[in-house]
Amino acid sequence: MIRTPEALIPYIVALAAFLAGLAWHLADSIPHIGQTIVSGQIAVGGPFHLVDQDGTARSDQDFREHWMLIYFGYTHCPDVCPLTLTLMASVIDKLGTRAFQVTPIFITVDPARDTPKVMKDYVASFGKSFVGLTGDAKSIAIIEKEYRVAAIRHPLPGGDYAMDHSSTIYLIDPHGRFVMDYDDSTKPEDIAADIAKRF
Ligand code: NI
Repeated sequence: MIRTPEALIPYIVALAAFLAGLAWHLADSIPHIGQTIVSGQIAVGGPFHLVDQDGTARSDQDFREHWMLIYFGYTHCPDVCPLTLTLMASVIDKLGTRAFQVTPIFITVDPARDTPKVMKDYVASFGKSFVGLTGDAKSIAIIEKEYRVAAIRHPLPGGDYAMDHSSTIYLIDPHGRFVMDYDDSTKPEDIAADIAKRF
């Protein structure tokens, strides 16, 4: 009969805890397809009052009847934002005849530089249906909090700055309710299929 020496038990418990933690991290890194936030979990989303790329005041109420595919970033972003907006454009493209039911929305985390004019030129390069939203610092801070967006100003040599920001794509239903988030590494066909099955 094999007996576990008692002195080893703390190490075995520690190893089990480590393996459990590792499994949890692996599960966390798998794209969230099919996972829906249920009641009891942290609420995401909420009302907003912002300004679009034409300088028109827009609120969340203006987008009822449509699904919103929302991404937060900034126009000076060197890499992640252009790639993610290109991914969103591809999702819209893959929705084909149902694309009109989804409005892709880019919300700036850098309202000081991203004026409506700057947003207009920027979102136009990703597709006609894109809406770019900006606003005063307070309105942007409110929506960042609602969507649990992290955005930190990061000084660059020469007095310029970058924004370090989280990179999540949010799906909001026609009632204004958060239903899903997608990692920016998810394939566009997978996101499109996931959205289409909810119509
Ligand atoms: Ni970015």
